[in-house]
Amino acid sequence: MERSGRNAVATLAKLYRLALLVLSTPVVLGEYFARETGAAYGVGFTKKCELAGRMLLNNTRIPTGSSFVEHLIIATQILNLPPERDGVVVECGCYMGGSTANLSLAAGACDRKLVVFDSFEGMPEPTDVDRAHVLIGSKEVHTYDEGSWRGSLGTVRRNVTAYGDVSACEFRKGYFEETMADFDEPVALAFLDVGLRRSAETCLEHLWPLLDREGYLFTHDVKHMEIASLFFDAEWWREHLDCDAPGVVGAGSGVGLHPKTNGFGSLLGYTVKEPELRSFTRVEEDGAETYRVGASDDD
Ligand SMILES: C[S@@+](CC[C@H](N)C(=O)[O-])C[C@H]1O[C@@H](n2cnc3c(N)ncnc32)[C@H](O)[C@@H]1O
Repeated sequence: MERSGRNAVATLAKLYRLALLVLSTPVVLGEYFARETGAAYGVGFTKKCELAGRMLLNNTRIPTGSSFVEHLIIATQILNLPPERDGVVVECGCYMGGSTANLSLAAGACDRKLVVFDSFEGMPEPTDVDRAHVLIGSKEVHTYDEGSWRGSLGTVRRNVTAYGDVSACEFRKGYFEETMADFDEPVALAFLDVGLRRSAETCLEHLWPLLDREGYLFTHDVKHMEIASLFFDAEWWREHLDCDAPGVVGAGSGVGLHPKTNGFGSLLGYTVKEPELRSFTRVEEDGAETYRVGASDDD
């Protein structure tokens, strides 16, 4: 096929995917646009449209490893946090600040602080477990070199100042292993986009105990088997955090946000700390026995 023909096909495919994204918005972003989301902060439909528009534009302005739709899913849970609930929003792994700019807009709209952890020097050297990651869902193997995904603190600050809400941000520069040790603020929600299992382990070890008991923890590495499996690793959770493994929604394929060849997917997954979600109660309904998620009221 000639070059112009190939370009036309590529443009059509792009337009088709965009149309699918627009058509699927009521499902994918149903909770974001729900009346209750943001109501406690006076963030209504018009403000949410403005926020979504800025986030979309930011995705084209700042080189970013994640998508604005993924940011909107996280923003939904930030807007849903009850104002009286204590805690900051934490981002681990910000690269050039594309995700930071968007999350700062949501955090700023709710008067919450966004604490951003990164080396600002890129990835640390991968250890043996992180030499290569398997992404079964997309039949890929991912590798990282030391220093890749580098965004300097100056670049990130400039990007967030230009396109986000820098007044909501606090930057913690250094490897997680060093910077998290003395961090002890209550965490209302966390977003991990760290690429390496070792880095994810460090973040979980420090942040899980600080996370609110109903708090959401998002991960942008959920297609990596090495990282998704960590959330189901009963032994690791018992040894390091003395609790059951929480599991993760979206393991292997991500939550269904973007049209793909075989349905919808993304790189985003999440877990909720709520321990009740991991138990069930036997109840009687219309004379028949059935089960409900959560512990019984007597527990
Ligand atoms: C994939 S990039 C993040 C992409 C970004 N969230 C976005 O959407 O554009 C991964 C980031 O994690 C950081 N990182 C990974 N492991 C780290 C560690 N142990 N300590 C500090 N930063 C780390 C890297 O510096 C890099 O900025």
